[in-house]
Amino acid sequence: MKFTTPIAGLLALGAATSASPLPSQLSFNSAQYTDAPLSLFSSIYEASRDILTPRLVQTAPDAEPFWALPQYLRWRGVRFMDVTDHLELGTTYTLAHFTAAAQQGHDAGLFPKKMSYQSKVRSVHELLTEDGPRSNIAKFSSFYTRYYKSDTGKQSQQWLLGKVREITSVDDSITVDEFKHPWGQNSIIAHIPATNQSAAEQNGMLIVGAHQDSVNLIWPYFRAPGADDDGSGTVTQLEALRALLEAGWRPETSDVEFHWYSAEEGGLLGSQAVAEDYAKRGVNVKAMNQVDMSAFVKKDVKPAIGIVTDKGRVETGLTEFNRKLVTEYLDIPYVDTAIGAAGSDHESWTKVGIPAAFCIGELRRAPAVLAMSIH
Ligand SMILES: *[C@@H]1O[C@H](CO)[C@@H](O)[C@H](O)[C@H]1NC(C)=O
Ligand SMILES: [Zn+2]
Repeated sequence: MKFTTPIAGLLALGAATSASPLPSQLSFNSAQYTDAPLSLFSSIYEASRDILTPRLVQTAPDAEPFWALPQYLRWRGVRFMDVTDHLELGTTYTLAHFTAAAQQGHDAGLFPKKMSYQSKVRSVHELLTEDGPRSNIAKFSSFYTRYYKSDTGKQSQQWLLGKVREITSVDDSITVDEFKHPWGQNSIIAHIPATNQSAAEQNGMLIVGAHQDSVNLIWPYFRAPGADDDGSGTVTQLEALRALLEAGWRPETSDVEFHWYSAEEGGLLGSQAVAEDYAKRGVNVKAMNQVDMSAFVKKDVKPAIGIVTDKGRVETGLTEFNRKLVTEYLDIPYVDTAIGAAGSDHESWTKVGIPAAFCIGELRRAPAVLAMSIH
């Protein structure tokens, strides 16, 4: 194919560029797409409709919302929360008991100061494999795009749902549900009940999250393998859950949920819908931890865990706990990092007043997911 017209050129550019290029460490044939791309015309039509519809957006949980074209923001590299349908999130709908602590960023003393359960955590680490995540990420990024409004985005979600069901089938008490969204790609929630329910009711639930969707930043419906963003968090979570269950782990004093959100790239739409539902139902949530982009390390950069520290976006006590996990369990260090923009789905939880934290970078051993689930 020759690229002689602007639109063909744009197609070529779109095909070559994506929100998240394939990590150099992962080798597989990315040309083997599971499904053919949408036709050029329907792709342009759908994307144009998206592009010409202004949305009310926000760039931080407490920032002033403004009207903008999401695609224009993507072109400019501005990350945003689309609050058009969620104006009451954090006001009418809130789980307010921690709001002050979360927003002022002071350590409310909710999280362990010292590590415990080390031998249990290490025995789970022994069961982690690289092969599982590698083959899952190869499959997951072979969908042409996981854009939340696309057909292949629905298909990738169904594939992921099957994987979560397969992994959790070892225990009937674990439930796996689709959290339905109007755009078609649903969020997925695996619920692992605590063995002591009276303790669990007092303590509140622990949530670990990643987002399943991807987007091509140039043109939403173009190729977007999203292996790193956030195929990596998605499969990391799968592997963590698989290893935990293989080790016979069941949470004792808190229910634990694993969330795979839809439409993070649409402006945290999936996680906002879930957080709003939990707030409406008054679900007691203790904490939320997000993992986004954990596979890719730039050439000549020393691998490290990025601990996101942005004030007003993450809770400092949980963030400090994540630092301690890295120091205790990993051979690589952490680096504090500020993103300064709508980073990922944890911000939907920050907005309803739940202590939330965010790890980014190379999480070789998924410490945050594992150890937080055990505590
Ligand atoms: C369950 O938790 C409650 C509240 O923390 C505690 O009083 C009780 O002893 C626990 N039950 C068992 C069987 O451990
Ligand atoms: Zn992401």
